[in-house]
Amino acid sequence: MKLILDILEQRISDAMVKASGQGGCAAIVKPAVDAKFGDYQANGVMALAKQLKTNPRQLAEKIVSNLDVSDICEQPQIAGPGFINLRLKPEFIANALLEIKKDTENLAVEKTNKAERIVVDFSGPNIAKQMHVGHLRSTIIGDCICRMLKFMGHEVIPQNHIGDWGTQFGMLVQHLLETRIGAAFGETQASVSDMEEFYREAKKRYDTDEKFAAASRDCVVKLHNHEPQILSLWRNIVNLSLQEIYPKYELLNVNLSPEDVRGESFYNPKLSEVVNELKQKGLAKESQGAVCVFPEGFKNKDGEPLPLIVQKSDGAFLYATTDLAAIRYRVNELKADRIIYVTDLRQGLHFEMVFKVAKMAGWTDDKVKLQHITFGSVLGEDGKPLKTRSGENVKLKELLDEAVTRARKVVDEKNPELSESQRDNIANAVGIGAVKYADYSNNRTSDYIFSFDKMLAMEGNTAPYMQYAYARVRSIERKAAKSELDIQAELAGIETLNLTEPTEFDLARHLIRYGEAIYSAAADFRPNFITGYLYELAQKFSAFYTECPVLKADKDKRPTRLLLCDLTARTIQHGLQYVLGIETPEQM
Ligand code: ARG
Repeated sequence: MKLILDILEQRISDAMVKASGQGGCAAIVKPAVDAKFGDYQANGVMALAKQLKTNPRQLAEKIVSNLDVSDICEQPQIAGPGFINLRLKPEFIANALLEIKKDTENLAVEKTNKAERIVVDFSGPNIAKQMHVGHLRSTIIGDCICRMLKFMGHEVIPQNHIGDWGTQFGMLVQHLLETRIGAAFGETQASVSDMEEFYREAKKRYDTDEKFAAASRDCVVKLHNHEPQILSLWRNIVNLSLQEIYPKYELLNVNLSPEDVRGESFYNPKLSEVVNELKQKGLAKESQGAVCVFPEGFKNKDGEPLPLIVQKSDGAFLYATTDLAAIRYRVNELKADRIIYVTDLRQGLHFEMVFKVAKMAGWTDDKVKLQHITFGSVLGEDGKPLKTRSGENVKLKELLDEAVTRARKVVDEKNPELSESQRDNIANAVGIGAVKYADYSNNRTSDYIFSFDKMLAMEGNTAPYMQYAYARVRSIERKAAKSELDIQAELAGIETLNLTEPTEFDLARHLIRYGEAIYSAAADFRPNFITGYLYELAQKFSAFYTECPVLKADKDKRPTRLLLCDLTARTIQHGLQYVLGIETPEQM
């Protein structure tokens, strides 16, 4: 099923061309702000009237007389200075519901006709350090972006650009060498059980023991010269850290696997070539010993040209050099049409400059789109960046554990009859779901305050509310089974629908717009459009269920109502599970 918005936009644009005798007119169709005006509103008539120096209302009338949407909408209404209001026909709504019913997998959401190959760069933790709450947003927002784009039919290539090649690895390898040498060749796994503890030990020595610090710096040089023994120790450390990261991805239900890792070390062998090419092309020059590119339009606060440094005076390459190499790889090898980067706002300038330099070097052209998708910070209840009481970063694992423990209390209260293991499973789904949903439901670009109480509330736009809404619809179906009503048979027998009540229509209208929610969320990379849609769906369902009996409905009404229940459950499930990666327990 094509998006209704797109069909209407096309038809109205065509009618505009006819009415104005001018090519290239474009209507903008938006969902109506208020249901009393209908379902959609077309804008763009006023702008066109201005161009043609004509009366907008008359133009709107001419457009409407050239417009045929009778298969979808009631007679279009002109409002105000030239808006065109459109109301969906009941038959259209009913047919659309039947289409969704047929397509269990995709709920009749059509694939895009402009499929691209899209690289999504997200998560990218600096390994050898524990993942903390700062990594949470990139990881889960990036994952949701991948899920949406994939569902729309794009080819998605996730890339985990981990920090695995910085100078801190000299320190770590040296520490491994000095304290676990026996273990270093074969038994390393057993001797470093806690990577973070290991990092802390090494850092402490580095800061207090000058001899160790000097040896560490030597070790970096050896590592960068690829000395086999050092390299194999480094590999050990990287593998150990990754082993600590994957369980967290799994816990968060994030689709990142070892094949998606292309970290800084992967690009290391390609960095001198990047710098050489920039020099050859006359883009890079030496400035105070370092090799720099001065992309046009970037100034420091004194108004002087701002450099992107690609090689330091000691020969070391930088974060930016790696990102330039990554662009070349993604364009040339991965054949990306588009590259999306998901990091916090503080890297904004970095990416702007890197994108610009890549373009100057001819590594990207107008066909490749580069997008930096940013997000705000996670704050504590005090409004400052979330920290532990002692001022350290909050560890992701501890945060998720606490969410699950607290969710368990909510589940115990709500449903003490369930078995211990059932309640454990639900608590897991609710706890992790709550953390993710709270993040998704906030405006991506704003900071938000992390509050267990709010995210675990049973009321409001929260994961437990949505999960409960889902379980509640499913419970209707369980009740039906108990009364020996065969729902599947009844649903299968449906050929036409019998929609009459306002709350039925309200719910039905919303159900057929799921695709619209996904496409608009993906266009702007805003998961909160999905959570907003789902929340509204749950509310409309509630209103319907309060007004309209389902199992006790008259024979001629029951199949339609059962279908409304079933599609509501399936849509919530798809949204939570498939798009947001949040589990939907059948019972709560
Ligand atoms: N490791 C980086 C950090 O923690 C994030 C990497 C983002 N991706 C990139 N291509 N630079 O800040």
